[in-house]
Amino acid sequence: MTTLRSDALVIFGVTGDLAYKKIFPALQAMIKRGELDMPIIGVARAAWTLDKLRERVHESLEQGGGVDPGAFAKLSAQLRYIQGDYQNADTYERLRQALIGVARPLHYLAIPPSIFGVVMQGLAKAGSANNARVVVEKPFGRNLASAQELNRTLLEVFPATAVFRIDHYLGKEAVQNLLYFRFANTFLEPIWNRNYVDSVQITMAENFGVQGRGGFYEEVGAIRDVVQNHMLEVMALLAMDAPVGHDPESMRAEKLRLFHAVQPLQPDQIVRGQFRGYREEKGVAADSQVETFAALRLQVDTWRWAGVPFYIRAGKRMPISATEVMVKLKAPPLAIFHANALSQSNYFRFRLSPEVVISAGTLVKEPGEEMRGEATELVARYLLCGENPPYARLLSDALRGDVELFTSKESVEAAWRVIDPILGDATPVTEYEPGTWGPAEAAKIVAGEEGWHDPKPEASKPC
Ligand code: BG6
Repeated sequence: MTTLRSDALVIFGVTGDLAYKKIFPALQAMIKRGELDMPIIGVARAAWTLDKLRERVHESLEQGGGVDPGAFAKLSAQLRYIQGDYQNADTYERLRQALIGVARPLHYLAIPPSIFGVVMQGLAKAGSANNARVVVEKPFGRNLASAQELNRTLLEVFPATAVFRIDHYLGKEAVQNLLYFRFANTFLEPIWNRNYVDSVQITMAENFGVQGRGGFYEEVGAIRDVVQNHMLEVMALLAMDAPVGHDPESMRAEKLRLFHAVQPLQPDQIVRGQFRGYREEKGVAADSQVETFAALRLQVDTWRWAGVPFYIRAGKRMPISATEVMVKLKAPPLAIFHANALSQSNYFRFRLSPEVVISAGTLVKEPGEEMRGEATELVARYLLCGENPPYARLLSDALRGDVELFTSKESVEAAWRVIDPILGDATPVTEYEPGTWGPAEAAKIVAGEEGWHDPKPEASKPC
């Protein structure tokens, strides 16, 4: 399918944290790759000048990997800034004027979900939604009902093919490699099921806190911030069946089938935690019940996975920053050699961040007279130096109208259906010490297993 490229990028929320941390470095990368030769119009409420915005972009690039003087000069020249209230028709009128001569703008809503609707109506009334595409940030809504409402509002204004629900995890090399590794090799498929897999754990640990984003975080918490989207997407890539073709629709269909098989969570399948000190963060309520940690056990009712627990754990202020998947295989039926062999089952470990590692845990014989085993990893690692930042990859795709790495209406709703029953105060939140693996209660989620698999520092550098 050939689609026409967008010819302007409009960023709502350009003064915000997301733009600073992720979007500006992505824009520089896109310019360097020759993928962003168009006006870039920032919109926000703050009374900034264009120069102030340029300074902020420069600062963000310095912090986020380095300034390329040539690319920065081009980026600066392409930047525009429109200051205005999102509720005010005049903001959209000025944007319309800035878009004169542009045939197909891409609007990126890097703003809180509560104002998506207002912005979309504003764009529609001013005529700036015509032939336009829209990228919508996560979390997509606050729960199932609001996600459905948001989808309705979006689709009143934009055709389905013009809507891009972004989850930057899907633009990560290491995450795409999960799918590639599974379906480009033959050896995995025969054992990738309930007959051989004992359990699957996915841990997303961050050693930092909310980094000044207390106000934003109070609205979301760990479950809405990363579990409903990043973690469930990783789980889907690990657990889905092979798509029948390489087209985006086949891929989306298999992922959706998987989401439909994940049972809605019950309160006894989750433990929520909050790091000590969170309530002292700016923008956080003194009695906040928002979780900065969640540990969950999910059940996937398919012929492939029935009875295999999928565990997800995500938290801030953990001992290290690392995202890792551990697929534990069942033990051999009998211990022919050393008795220890039985408890040391095989596994596959996928380190997704900050390093990228795929390893198979095996037992090999220790040298000597005894038939005694030694745990050894067969390791494949690759370096991500110069990886196109996920946001650059995804925004370039959106500019070209390629939906493959974006979330569909159906799967975003299916993911909320899993999470919905445990949102809010359905379960208590327990305090944990910063620098630990969360509250002790989290152990009960993996009861019967050997416990949580804690990612360790890797021997290799990320790059
Ligand atoms: C974002 C979350 O989506 O992902 C943040 O809002 C989190 O809370 C971030 O820190 C992690 O992404 P990455 O790619 O920086 O590991």
